[in-house]
Amino acid sequence: MASTTPRVPIPANGVDYRGKVVLAPMVRSGELPSRLLALKYGADLVWGPETIDRAIMGAARRVNPRNNTIEFTRISSNGGREDQPKKENVIYRIDPEGEKGKLIFQMGTASPEYAVQAAKVVAPDVFGIDVNSGCPKPFSTSGGMGAALLRTPDKLVSILEALVREVGNPYQIGISVKIRLLETPEMTESLVKRLVATGITGLTIHCRTTPMRPRERAIREQLRMIVDTCHNAGVACVMNGDVTSRDNALALMEEYGADGAMIATSAEQNPSCFRTNAEGGLLPWRDVVRDYLEQCIRVENRFGNTKYLLNMMVNAKDKAFKEFNKAKSYVDACRILQYGDLVPAAKEVDQVLLLEDRSVTNEDGIRPSAVQNAKANNESAKAAGRSTKHKKQASVQKGPGPIRTNSRTGVPNPPSEPEADVDLSASTSVPQQSPAVAV
Ligand SMILES: Cc1cc2nc3c(=O)[nH]c(=O)nc-3n(C[C@H](O)[C@H](O)[C@H](O)COP(=O)(O)O)c2cc1C
Repeated sequence: MASTTPRVPIPANGVDYRGKVVLAPMVRSGELPSRLLALKYGADLVWGPETIDRAIMGAARRVNPRNNTIEFTRISSNGGREDQPKKENVIYRIDPEGEKGKLIFQMGTASPEYAVQAAKVVAPDVFGIDVNSGCPKPFSTSGGMGAALLRTPDKLVSILEALVREVGNPYQIGISVKIRLLETPEMTESLVKRLVATGITGLTIHCRTTPMRPRERAIREQLRMIVDTCHNAGVACVMNGDVTSRDNALALMEEYGADGAMIATSAEQNPSCFRTNAEGGLLPWRDVVRDYLEQCIRVENRFGNTKYLLNMMVNAKDKAFKEFNKAKSYVDACRILQYGDLVPAAKEVDQVLLLEDRSVTNEDGIRPSAVQNAKANNESAKAAGRSTKHKKQASVQKGPGPIRTNSRTGVPNPPSEPEADVDLSASTSVPQQSPAVAV
């Protein structure tokens, strides 16, 4: 007998979330190398970090000739300061081959018009557009985005409808939404009923309410009802919250009838959680870190972001952990962590990212002079009442310029990634906002 269960059709260039264990959207932690690593270890789909509509709206698209990644770039306004040289930031990076048929672009938005304009910039290069309706951080909610949309369902519905009509249909990709639980099952159900009637193909439920902190255990009492509500409308339901591994995901999907499961924190700490136990399960941190560094070098990931993630992945008990904090370049990272065979490639990327003069290591390890200099710099900077950051930046800007191609804006040889040890991912995706991590 033919099934009578409704099913919103999956567009030709879109993805079906059914049966999928996926990497969650994560500001900072969900940049391209992390996504590629998750895919390598078995993630079926990957969500990119939340990117604010206005950040991507004016971005220029180019293909990096050295690694064929697609880069969306913007020239930063430097907070309107005319005396500062203009900087070019890569806001979003895609590997068209590695992420083919797998990448969902997640957007922060509070306006149907902006959402559509922003989505059109990336639509030809991604396989789905997701609206973040769960971020509880004030920088998101104060602009009416993220979890604030849970309180303005009319607006959220109009955003999703506009995206389905003006982006999903013409580009033939799916539109989805990620929400949190409301206070009562009745409230959640009434919201979900409205959302699944907009033409979306998927809904992710983060099984925590907005005020809940990440460490509080996910609540799953409402999950079965949410799954059923989605299914009644033919929409796939992805569960999220305290899913720790692929095996755990598959068991939970079975238990609650969810179509897919999404992993954030566990994947951030060790992306090999996407391997099943039958495949060997979690890999030792040294293997994961090596794979990660290799990806970062290949795609020219910002070193500040690489270092941030490595700090999470390197075993804190290992001798190298403390030393690693001194790393100022990819060459430093490879030497300190003892991946000598990656050093030649690291040298090339350091040249591109203008990090070569910053290295604090030589073949024998940390240069004593580098440590002395760093200490002295710190002391004199403190004495002069300023941060060492500005000094470093200035020297970078005098540098020879990267091998980078210029963006369409025609700014000659922009001074690429500004700070080796400062992570700007959140601030590039959320311009003029707090660099705090969205959750
Ligand atoms: C570092 C970090 C960054 C996050 N950034 C986002 C984001 O950009 N968009 C989003 O919808 N959720 C974001 N989240 C929330 C996760 O996607 C996920 O919903 C939450 O962590 C619960 O999953 P977990 O229990 O597996 O960690 C972030 C979480 C973390 C830990």
